[in-house]
Amino acid sequence: MALDGPREPDNVPTHVGIIMDGNGRWASLRNLPRTSGHQEGLEAAKRIVRAAADSGTRYLSLYAFSTENWNRTPDEIRFLMGLVTGYLRKEQPFYEEIGVRVVHSGDLKRLPRAVQSEVRGVMKDTRDFERITVNLALNYGGRDEIVRAADRAWKQRTADQSGGPLTTAELQRHLDLPEFPDPDLIIRTGGERRLSNFLLWQCAYAELYFSDRLWPDWDHDDFAAAVSDYRSRKRNFGGSR
Ligand code: IPE
Ligand code: IPE
Ligand code: MG
Repeated sequence: MALDGPREPDNVPTHVGIIMDGNGRWASLRNLPRTSGHQEGLEAAKRIVRAAADSGTRYLSLYAFSTENWNRTPDEIRFLMGLVTGYLRKEQPFYEEIGVRVVHSGDLKRLPRAVQSEVRGVMKDTRDFERITVNLALNYGGRDEIVRAADRAWKQRTADQSGGPLTTAELQRHLDLPEFPDPDLIIRTGGERRLSNFLLWQCAYAELYFSDRLWPDWDHDDFAAAVSDYRSRKRNFGGSR
């Protein structure tokens, strides 16, 4: 029997999407304002980016603000936007140490100008890093993305004067991040069992993992447990079993 030396685990998910939920409840449990939960959520996000890079995951999509989150109070929205403008580019040493390229999905143009320029800036600052690509889904909604993709496809056709039936491949090319592989694993923290408009097109064959642990409590071991659960699953993609 051959003895194997240490090696990277195989069957690691290439792309993991995370619905980072439970910040408000984490804060309420401690009699703190919801904003403290968001601040702690930022620390959790850094821990999980590191854990994902260490595990060999190449793409990580983090759901940070949905198209429906505009329904929150102006104070909470202002605080969340302030977290983006206050921290995103300041974390450059962290991106550099780990090798994080940051990209964005969602409707950037409808975000405050300061947020737009922070997001564009961090994408430029990190564009050469290659270990892991982190997609910040900010003002993101799955339906909104599909509608914007359809609109872009339609405009392209008008410009090219081309026609014929629309195909999935054509629509796919107009999504926010067409180069991203579909997510293999979608994690939702905080106990709810729903997608809340996250990656609706891309999640067609994603494995789903739900955890009751609130997002600010997430650490390396929680991510490892989710990946280990994923590795135990048999994917089928509609084939015969
Ligand atoms: C997720 O935590 C963060 C965002 C949606 C911005 P929540 O703020 O939804 O926390 P809960 O669900 O109220 O606990
Ligand atoms: C989903 O969480 C959005 C993000 C994590 C950014 P929500 O807290 O907004 O979702 P619902 O309202 O419980 O479905
Ligand atoms: Mg929530």
